[in-house]
Amino acid sequence: MGDPRALRCVSCRTEYGPDELEYTCPTCGPRRGTLEFLYDYDALRSELTRERLAADGERSMWRYLPLLPIRDARFIQQLLVGWTPIYRAPALGRELGFAELLVKDDGRNPTASYKDRASSLVVIAAQEKGKEVVTCASTGNAASSLAGFAAATDLETVIFVPERAPEAKVAQLLIYGARVFVVRGSYDVAYDLAAEAADAFGWYNRSAAMNPYLVEGKKTGALELAEQLGWDLPDAVFVSVGDGSVISGVCKGFEEMRTLGWTDRVPAVIGVQAERSAPVARSFDRFDGVTVEIDDGPADTVADSICVGAPRDIVKAVTYVTRNGGRFVVVSDEEILDAIRVLARRTGVFAEPAGAAAFAGAARLARAGELKEKRVAILVTGNGLKDVRAARSAVGEPTVIDPVLARVEEAL
Ligand SMILES: Cc1ncc(COP(=O)(O)O)c(C=O)c1O
Ligand SMILES: [Zn+2]
Repeated sequence: MGDPRALRCVSCRTEYGPDELEYTCPTCGPRRGTLEFLYDYDALRSELTRERLAADGERSMWRYLPLLPIRDARFIQQLLVGWTPIYRAPALGRELGFAELLVKDDGRNPTASYKDRASSLVVIAAQEKGKEVVTCASTGNAASSLAGFAAATDLETVIFVPERAPEAKVAQLLIYGARVFVVRGSYDVAYDLAAEAADAFGWYNRSAAMNPYLVEGKKTGALELAEQLGWDLPDAVFVSVGDGSVISGVCKGFEEMRTLGWTDRVPAVIGVQAERSAPVARSFDRFDGVTVEIDDGPADTVADSICVGAPRDIVKAVTYVTRNGGRFVVVSDEEILDAIRVLARRTGVFAEPAGAAAFAGAARLARAGELKEKRVAILVTGNGLKDVRAARSAVGEPTVIDPVLARVEEAL
């Protein structure tokens, strides 16, 4: 079982007891005062070694249990989350000038997105804390993931999604039995409403950033990536960014591995944002090493999952990526749609727009002559079937014919 030592505020760095606070630092407030779990790394160094891991037959994110803030294994769900495959794409990688291109497909998780890594933990935390109702606002994936993992328990789920949430994600919510509110407005307003409702009705809130369990789940993708590659880390890892929680988790995972002596360095973690939804990238470019500027604005992109104008984990994302030696890259919607097509046609991995955005970022840097002879990994964070409409807009129409061979021949 994991046994976190403390919760620390990412801004003022005050340490609180691991159960002292539910959400954020009271001094720094919800945006700046997100919390991170700390562990007794010295003790873990002897308990959780590479050799121990190699001998562990568990093929899920629970192989990293001592490094996760879970006390009661009874609540671990049967739904199999994590240990998603990594594929090599040698021909495509060579065309881009990379030494290697690796694709980790997290669309293979139970509800088909990376968010399952976080939801599974939060659902356990809710049960450990004796909660009855879990809630969140989400662009769609965090919500469908929460609804899916809660469905396997006695927890009830109340969800807030923006009007632009794709059909498939809303269908998932309803099928899993969540109470669903489609909020007239953006994700950013849905987020505030969910927080108010959680407060008013005593629900446990899984919305991005404010709940410290989330980043813990999200770090497991990095742990797996390293272990699956035999601890031979790539040079760069691309992750798409909306609120900034996934990338924060990935950075924390790489840092903790180095602290535990599993690896001796960290790869550069590169965040990818959409052109018209890039507040984290903007803030990163202006970061003075002390205060993260929060410059919210309207957001718009075909990649609904990263359509975020008021990113809630911006402070963590900017400080972690700076410390990691990584950076941000911004891509257009056309590049994202092109990336869905190329990735599917060259690797067989069908990604939703935000999942393909990671590849679009790598392709953008390759075209600029960067990352030559580097080993590059991309995290595909969501399955393409999550947003079929976006995928259809990236391709032509099929040919409709009468059931006659001659028609096929004519059309060919
Ligand atoms: C498929 C997918 N990719 C990337 C992200 C970005 O994660 P974050 O909002 O934590 O930056 C999300 C978040 O919803 C997502 O669903
Ligand atoms: Zn603080």
